[in-house]
Parts: sequence; structure tokens; C-alpha cells
Amino acid sequence: MAEPSTKEDTPPGWPGQLWLEGRTLVHLQEEQERPSHMPRGPAKRTGVGFLNPAMAPARTRSVLLLADALEHGWLVKQDRSLRALDALCATGVRIRRWRNEIPSDLQHRLRITGNDLDEFALSWAKASHALHPPQTDVDHKPEDDRHGQPSTAVFDNGLHFQRLDARMAMVDAAYQWVDLDPFGSPIQFLDAALQSLSRTGVLEVTATDTAALTGSSPSSQARRYQAKGLVDEYAHDDAVRLLLGTVATTAARLDKVVTPLLALFDGHHVRISLLVKTSKSEATNIRNSIGWRVRCDDVPYKFVQHPAPEQLIRASGPMWTGPMWHSEIAGRMTVERALKLCHPDLEEIEHHRANGLVWNEEDIEHSAREVKRGVRYISEAADLMGREHLLLSLDALPRLAGVGGAPKMEKLLEALNESGHAAARYPDLEPMLVTDAPFDAVIQAVQNAQPSTE
Ligand SMILES: C[S@@+](CC[C@H](N)C(=O)[O-])C[C@H]1O[C@@H](n2cnc3c(N)ncnc32)[C@H](O)[C@@H]1O
Repeated sequence: MAEPSTKEDTPPGWPGQLWLEGRTLVHLQEEQERPSHMPRGPAKRTGVGFLNPAMAPARTRSVLLLADALEHGWLVKQDRSLRALDALCATGVRIRRWRNEIPSDLQHRLRITGNDLDEFALSWAKASHALHPPQTDVDHKPEDDRHGQPSTAVFDNGLHFQRLDARMAMVDAAYQWVDLDPFGSPIQFLDAALQSLSRTGVLEVTATDTAALTGSSPSSQARRYQAKGLVDEYAHDDAVRLLLGTVATTAARLDKVVTPLLALFDGHHVRISLLVKTSKSEATNIRNSIGWRVRCDDVPYKFVQHPAPEQLIRASGPMWTGPMWHSEIAGRMTVERALKLCHPDLEEIEHHRANGLVWNEEDIEHSAREVKRGVRYISEAADLMGREHLLLSLDALPRLAGVGGAPKMEKLLEALNESGHAAARYPDLEPMLVTDAPFDAVIQAVQNAQPSTE
């Protein structure tokens, strides 16, 4: 498709300013502040047509996960195509990154649809994609597999854009990959998304209603998630588990069972990725993975299926209590892989500069750091996050161990590893660690790490 050529083709405000996310050129609204690197919170100004730079790490992980599914054949066989939908694609950055950054040899198997209700956002998505088509060498074939019938869908440089209510878009066709990234809570889209998935599919969900998920807004939490929270050092983990539990129980009602692949609290949002399969018997068993976190006196917490009445005051739930990640898949989400797929080389940067990108050396270095930040600590923690583990806040350890100060994270992990246990840093803004060591062994290691007073 050619770049917008007539005034009618040009979106209002076009072209704005050029920015690079991952290896993909994006157009930002002129009035949007140039993203600072490492943004943490929500964008200062949000709304239709504004790109939230704080979501860049989540989009990087999405590129890596989809590439992993294609490469390792855990979703569809390695010679089959995969239909992916970004149901609320806004200005299309995620789908453009999928098309641009997933390796060339996998691209021909991808059928990508971007949907949004907002015409303005879509016009920017289309114009950006037309002006900066994918750099991968792809033969983009029109999709011909919807409902087994030839489709009239038109693919522009490998992306199909449509403007529907997301729920209609998801009812309209079956996908093996659905991304839900709404403003606020995803609740209203969950049913349709799960029904839209093929017998085996991946659902990725973002939720920015963290006050409800953590329990800092108890009324919204009760209303939206039928849950009760406790705002302590486990609030972030509880929020992730609550969203996992909500999707798991919604799926079970539809005879589907979920396997979490990756689930994170990332600054101001929760992002979960799940494999979803149709299986009545396994869906029935999902109740074994739903329970409550009860804070205790002898250990920081334990999971129970139903808290006793006297435990309720120190309990949060109901939530997902099963494994939170797929160890093997998350284990492949390394810094090296992220840089390989999502960080441009100098030749690409020069090409982009020639196309109008105003970036200096510092921008390039910061963008590499940003790509690394998206996957930091994930592969190291993947094994533990895929099985039973204990989650501990470094800052709470001095209180729990009755000592004056917290040890350094690295030293504590080293000590636990040396005593034969697995231990890793948990990817959270707060210093948290996961381990398979019994709580007593951690306390011992913290006490041993105290400087001698003699
Ligand atoms: C948070 S933004 C999506 C961001 C995008 N996924 C990205 O990575 O840049 C939410 C989008 O949902 C769209 N939206 C809200 N309600 C919708 C609905 N019912 N159907 C389709 N799109 C909707 C908005 O227009 C907005 O573009």
C-alpha cells in the first residue's frame, strides 16, 4: 500500500513526531510529550490516539511470546498458520511490532488483524503502517481460512485493520491468539475473547485497574472481581493471581482450561498470558488451583482452598494459586533474545534517521536498556515461577528474621543457592525474591548475613 497521498487519506494531525519502539517506527501525536526512557506510570495524557510508552516492555514480551509459539510449535504445528487478533489495537503499535520484529522465516505463517472502534486511532495505525511497512521479507497472502471459507479481508502489507466493537470482532471470527488491552478493566471483554479462541489458543490480557485488583479500592474489587484484598507486600502478586483466577473461572464456565504462560505486575498494570484449551474434565479441576492467601504467624503466608472464619481477616482471595508461568517458555525470554528480536542495529537506525527519526547515541542506549528492562529477571525466575515457591519481600525480611537490616539481594540469593535451594529475583519494582527453600532456611540465611558484632 502506498503512503497517504491525498488530503482525504491523511489522518488529522498527521504526521506528528517520529519515535522508535523496539525496532518499529511509530508516529506520536504532536502534543504527546516525547517519551522519557524507562517510563514507569501511566502516560501523562492518555486517551485515543496516544501511545502509552510505559506499555512498551509488555509489547516487547508479546513479540517474544508470539515468536516463541511459532518457532517452537506449542500452539500450532510448525508448518501451520496462526491467526492473531489485537482486539483493541489503537494506533496499531503492537501488531506493527509483531509484523516487523518477529523473524522473517516465521512471518509467512502469521495472519494478523488489528481492530479498534476508534476511527482516528485506526487512521494513524494505517498511515504509520503504510509509510513504514515491515522490514521483514514476507509474502503477505490474503487470509483464506476464516470459518473455512475464503475471506474478503484485505491485508495491507501484512495487516488487516477493521473497525468493530471488540466484542463483535471476537464473535465474528476464531483466532488462535487474542490480545486484550483495554483502558481499565478487561472484564467486559473476557467472555467474547475466550469464545473467540480456537480449541487451543493464547489469550493475553492487560488490566490497568490496579486499585481494584490489589484491593486498595475494596468496593471495586468486590464488585468487579468478587474478591477481598489485603494491601501489604503481597498486593502485587495477589493482583496478578486475582486476574489469573478471574480468567480461569470465566474460561471454566465455557468448558475451557487455562495454563498461565507469563503473568506480571508491571508498574501500573497487570499483564497475563495464558494458553487456553477446550477440555471439560480439566476445566472441572480448575477449582484445585483457586484458593486464598492467608497470612500466618509461623510462615509469611500459605494458600488454602477455603479460609476458616477466623483466618478471613488475614486472608485475600479467591485467586489463582497454581503455577504462574510456564517454566520452559518463560525461560526462553532472555535478554539476548529480546535484544536480537527487538533492538535495532546501527544500520537500521541509520535507515530510520534517513526517514526522519531524530535520535542520538543516548536514545539508542536508552532504548536498549528499555528492551532489556522488558524481560529483566524473567528467565532466571522462570523455573521457580512454574512450580511451588515462596515469595518474599526483601524489605520485610529484617522484621521476619528479627535482625537490624536486610541483606543484599545478590548475597541472599547466593547463600540460598549454596545451601542447595533455588532462589531468584522476582520481576517487580519492589525487591522481591522467589525460592523453594523452606522459610526457616531463608531466615537462617538472613541471620547469617548479618555483620558480626564481636
Ligand atoms: C489502551 S488502548 C489500546 C492500546 C494498544 N493495544 C497499544 O498497545 O497501543 C484501548 C483502545 O480500546 C479502544 N476501545 C475501547 N472500547 C472499545 C470497544 N468496545 N471496541 C473496540 N475498541 C474499543 C479504544 O479506542 C482504544 O484505542
